[in-house]
Amino acid sequence: MNINVKHDFSYLQDAKDFDELLSKLQELYLANLKFQTVLDSAATRTVLEVFKPITTNPQLEEWWTVHGFQEAIHSASYAELIKALPLNATKVFDDIMINEDILSRAREIVGRFDDTVKWNAIMITDSFTDDKSVIPYCIDSHKKSLVFSLYALNILEAGLFQTSFITTFAFAENGTMESSGKSMSKIAQDEINHKAMTQHLINRMKVDPNWKYIFEENYIEIIKMYKSAYEADFLWIDYIFRDGARLLGLNAEILKEYAQWNIHRAMSSIGLEPFVDKVTNNPCQWSEKYTKTSNLQVALNESDGINYLLGKLNKNITQEEWKEMKI
Ligand SMILES: [Fe+2]
Ligand SMILES: [Fe+2]
Repeated sequence: MNINVKHDFSYLQDAKDFDELLSKLQELYLANLKFQTVLDSAATRTVLEVFKPITTNPQLEEWWTVHGFQEAIHSASYAELIKALPLNATKVFDDIMINEDILSRAREIVGRFDDTVKWNAIMITDSFTDDKSVIPYCIDSHKKSLVFSLYALNILEAGLFQTSFITTFAFAENGTMESSGKSMSKIAQDEINHKAMTQHLINRMKVDPNWKYIFEENYIEIIKMYKSAYEADFLWIDYIFRDGARLLGLNAEILKEYAQWNIHRAMSSIGLEPFVDKVTNNPCQWSEKYTKTSNLQVALNESDGINYLLGKLNKNITQEEWKEMKI
């Protein structure tokens, strides 16, 4: 019996495309992918180690599990993409761990998460209880670190990832590495939800009387975090375009303008005063077709739809209505 397995996309063509790319474009594609691999693997641990252990709301706890799972899938997808390329994948993975340009872009963000993990451990194990006088200090330090981690996650989801996605989409838009573009499109759609949740949590917590003062007291440092991420993004853009690589619709200048447009939008949506001028239109408007879920024409009731059917139950159906219902 023949079973026809339909694949959405295959990385085989991408491997061929990669082989035919100019070496500076190969470098651009790889550098971008390496950064995404390290950041998504950090993101997986972040939500599961930083936020989940201290979340008491069951729905939010479930969300962190889903979020962490998605980040793990993303990281595995990037690794799959690297393994599919006609090069020594081990060398690529090894470079991720020692490449200073990659690590320095992630360092501040990861440092914030590490700090919360440390405070989580102190608070969960009650290891400060020998000296009761330090309890208020510990509680405030823990809260402060958690707020910084939330912003760090927002920077990750709403900022750093976005410039990386644009770079991959630009390859696909130029008719090459298209399966990477399709994979990234799925990943980017998850990131939209991650970004939305960080925005929602920040906007809710900053008006909560138990948290408001933490947000207010640390406003300047929070702005500094965005500024430093933005500057690191610019350094990164200079690094990946150092050989003068260019794709139709994307070069260092356009990507920097996109980063400016994006950070202004990200900061405004959580009530922070942006430190950059507003860029009125998305300079990479062409990329929106990769991220707008409304462009995907798969209805929830299609038998081959890939979405979970959750949140669709109607419990207000009477016994009589069940009997009369024709399915
Ligand atoms: Fe991700
Ligand atoms: Fe994410």
